[in-house]
Amino acid sequence: MARAFFIPPIPHMEVPVQTLPRVLCSSEAISSPATSLTTARANGVGLLGCGTVGSGVARRLLASHPGLIRGIAVRDPHKPRDVRWDDFSSDAFDVVDDPSVRVVVECIGGLGLARELILRAIARGKDVVTANKDLIATEGPWLAAFAARTGASLRYEAAVGGAIPIVRALGGSLAGEDVFEIGGVLNGTTNFVLDAMDGGAEYADALAEAQRLGFAEQDPRSDVDGHDAAHKLAILAGLAFRRPSVSPALARRGIGGISRDDVRAGAERGLRLKLVAVARKAGDVIEAGVTPAFVPEDHPFARPRGAENVVRVVGRGCGTLVFSGAGAGGDATASSVVADVLAALEARERGVQAHEGEDLVSAPLRAPVLVRFASGSVVTSDAMPLDALEAAAGGFGHVIQSLSKGRGEVQSMIPVWRDAA
Ligand SMILES: NC(=O)c1ccc[n+]([C@@H]2O[C@H](COP(=O)([O-])OP(=O)(O)OC[C@H]3O[C@@H](n4cnc5c(N)ncnc54)[C@H](OP(=O)(O)O)[C@@H]3O)[C@@H](O)[C@H]2O)c1
Repeated sequence: MARAFFIPPIPHMEVPVQTLPRVLCSSEAISSPATSLTTARANGVGLLGCGTVGSGVARRLLASHPGLIRGIAVRDPHKPRDVRWDDFSSDAFDVVDDPSVRVVVECIGGLGLARELILRAIARGKDVVTANKDLIATEGPWLAAFAARTGASLRYEAAVGGAIPIVRALGGSLAGEDVFEIGGVLNGTTNFVLDAMDGGAEYADALAEAQRLGFAEQDPRSDVDGHDAAHKLAILAGLAFRRPSVSPALARRGIGGISRDDVRAGAERGLRLKLVAVARKAGDVIEAGVTPAFVPEDHPFARPRGAENVVRVVGRGCGTLVFSGAGAGGDATASSVVADVLAALEARERGVQAHEGEDLVSAPLRAPVLVRFASGSVVTSDAMPLDALEAAAGGFGHVIQSLSKGRGEVQSMIPVWRDAA
């Protein structure tokens, strides 16, 4: 029987996000890759931003599809760049409004200007490709619904996992799959830092090294506090479970309080410390969360090195699938952006499929916890939810108190990863 989908009205630019419905999740973000260069040349691309990701996109498209890019907007048109383009614009709205531009590629980032530009493009029925995980994780569901209303499309493969084609896989090859669990190690910066600590570095030195090498931003809070991983997990969970999902709903812990002693305590037990981000079905609810966790050395989550990512999908028919590779960086991310651009140009005529549903049910992840005491003893607790662990971190709840008998002050409490049975 045909189902009636609720398509929200086109929002006015100033309408606060909270007042807009989050009832649809688009799978149109995924479609098969483009093959026809003729189609691609007949349509224009407007590029917004030409930094780490945007310059990679520009170089690739200028080389592979000359004439396809019609405008490039940047903040400072006079800045020296390694992109051959004569006429950088400082007015990104001009590029969006250019009638020869059919696909708008947003590589500026953030929730302010980028959001306005994307709204403007969608309102004009233009296809949008973005690497902006912050925006997609918080407003993706209704932006996709807005795009469906105007006949535009919204693609964001690059927002999760850099070069790893997981968004497309979930909406394409795995579209009919009953997924039980999705997640893994989704943030390269924290993985780099934890790896360096495994090699003997202190947290502050490891983070400084990550910043020096360009793996961490000067303000690293989004990465180390787990926001970036939560954003990516929300996007993946929404696609995997075909329900809208937003990152503020996820339980989250970062790596800020981790010490070298914690890493060493895990290593002595054959465990590696990783920032794990997972959503999984547990009875009627979907547990989800981001937490540093000890992972057995032979587990797929222990695999990524440096800034790599790993994403594992567990489903009824597909079994366990593991995707891994470069999770960030200009070239890796640009590769996914360019694939989305070509797909948008090819698939213009496709209709948008929408999924009806309420917000994703979310409960915090549960895991046993390895508690390290000042006396040097280490005890593993029963499974407890991540938010109880947060509460215990302040007052040491009754579970921890019962473990602590005579062992002295608690130094750290870190979950130990257990796969669902
Ligand atoms: N870097 C990665 O590895 C990575 C990976 C995955 C996703 N992403 C996402 O990709 C997006 C871009 O990241 P990025 O690392 O490429 O950032 P970036 O290097 O800081 O580049 C940002 C670009 O935006 C331009 N810009 C800033 N304000 C502007 C304005 N008012 N008008 C026009 N252009 C403006 C800047 O112009 P100027 O060059 O003149 O300053 C710059 O070219 C973000 O959403 C990020 O989360 C990045």
